[in-house]
Amino acid sequence: MSLKKILVLNGPNLNLLGTREPEIYGSTTFEDIYAILKTRAEENGFEIEFVQSNIEGVLVNEIQNARGNFGFILLNAAAFTHYSIAIRDAISAVEIPTIEIHISNVHAREEFRHHSVIAPVVMGQIAGFGIDSYIAALDIAMRRLDND
Ligand code: DQA
Repeated sequence: MSLKKILVLNGPNLNLLGTREPEIYGSTTFEDIYAILKTRAEENGFEIEFVQSNIEGVLVNEIQNARGNFGFILLNAAAFTHYSIAIRDAISAVEIPTIEIHISNVHAREEFRHHSVIAPVVMGQIAGFGIDSYIAALDIAMRRLDND
């Protein structure tokens, strides 16, 4: 029986969604995304935990503590995506299936956003669909866990 709990982890500055560069990240707030995902998860018999931190070590701790408690991780590591070996190593260590999420299409933006140090250790990446990136990732996670 798989764990019907999904951890949604968010990195630096994502708490500012809604007011932060809305032309890139849209006007939906962080609280709105949480509410949408929570409802969708619960309707399908899943629980989600939503965490945001601007601090790399807090995200590493969350990933470490997820072992045995969560069946899936949805990770928008924000700027840490591009350089945090610590977050990459934590994902690799816990062996929990993980989907990398980005609101914006990182590949169509500045060159430093084209590279993800996390991508090689996750199942896959969803980028460029606004908050639908989160919803698509949640749907995939739920489907995978239901089939486990
Ligand atoms: C982001 C893309 C990152 O490059 C950026 O640093 C972010 C948000 C996204 O969701 O589009 O903070 O992860």
